[in-house]
Amino acid sequence: MKLENGSALITGGAGGFGSATARRLAARGARVVIADVADERGQALAKELGNGAVYVRTDIMDESSIAAAVETAANLAPLRAAVIAHGGPPGPGPGGRVIGRDGKRLSVAVFAHSVQVFLTSAFAVTSYAAEAMAKNEPLESDQRGVIINTSSISGYEGQPGLVPYAAAKGGIIGMTLTLARDLAPLGIRAMAIAPGTFFTLAYGQMSAEEANAKFAPTIPNPKRMGDPDEYAQLAAHIVENDFLNGTTIRLDGAQRF
Ligand SMILES: NC(=O)c1ccc[n+]([C@@H]2O[C@H](COP(=O)([O-])OP(=O)(O)OC[C@H]3O[C@@H](n4cnc5c(N)ncnc54)[C@H](O)[C@@H]3O)[C@@H](O)[C@H]2O)c1
Repeated sequence: MKLENGSALITGGAGGFGSATARRLAARGARVVIADVADERGQALAKELGNGAVYVRTDIMDESSIAAAVETAANLAPLRAAVIAHGGPPGPGPGGRVIGRDGKRLSVAVFAHSVQVFLTSAFAVTSYAAEAMAKNEPLESDQRGVIINTSSISGYEGQPGLVPYAAAKGGIIGMTLTLARDLAPLGIRAMAIAPGTFFTLAYGQMSAEEANAKFAPTIPNPKRMGDPDEYAQLAAHIVENDFLNGTTIRLDGAQRF
């Protein structure tokens, strides 16, 4: 999939994975739409990228906000790539094990919030993006667009205390092949990346040294946390390689929990 003369929408575009991917896709000629709620980071990144990049304040908890971001991208240029890499607001209560040390169960509201942030909103972005891509003229390769969701290795082997997150990320893995099959007649591919442990803003309360000291021993090789640009390299490759479709790729230095 060639990105020249096309647009690319990135949710969480001002974040760790999102901003690294925005840089890679802009370098390949895409007009990048950074969809995030971090106004300062988003605007600064749009300026840095040039190439007609724009920041659009987008709350992934709000369907109309997602629809507006997709519309902005499609109005700039045919939407060729959507990369879904957002975080979300904190949940309505404490997380933890299904039954905590105090004998109390995890609230259903906390579970539902994680599913909303990491799965339902990802489906919403996917479906709005696919609807816009379906209106594109196909390229010579017969392709109209590609959608990349972000799962996690927790979607395969969730750690204790992460049932809601593991369920949501497992949902991304589960829907990817079916999405690819549904969208195949339209020439739209669906892929997902399942990252291991990467140093992004999500670890903002720790320094890189502290985070690496904690997580590097759990990663066989290379013995360090992932670099968000390694995610971006894979996302850019998925965009370019039309034969990648319907699967989730682990990107984790062989990390297993
Ligand atoms: N970092 C890791 O180790 C890791 C591992 C596996 C999966 N992931 C997944 O990757 C995705 C991106 O995470 P990251 O590590 O780049 O985190 P990050 O914190 O660096 O970036 C997340 C971005 O999402 C934005 N965001 C927060 N609430 C939002 C909202 N309501 N609407 C739109 N945007 C919002 C933030 O402002 C931020 O820019 C997440 O889905 C995360 O679960 C991360």
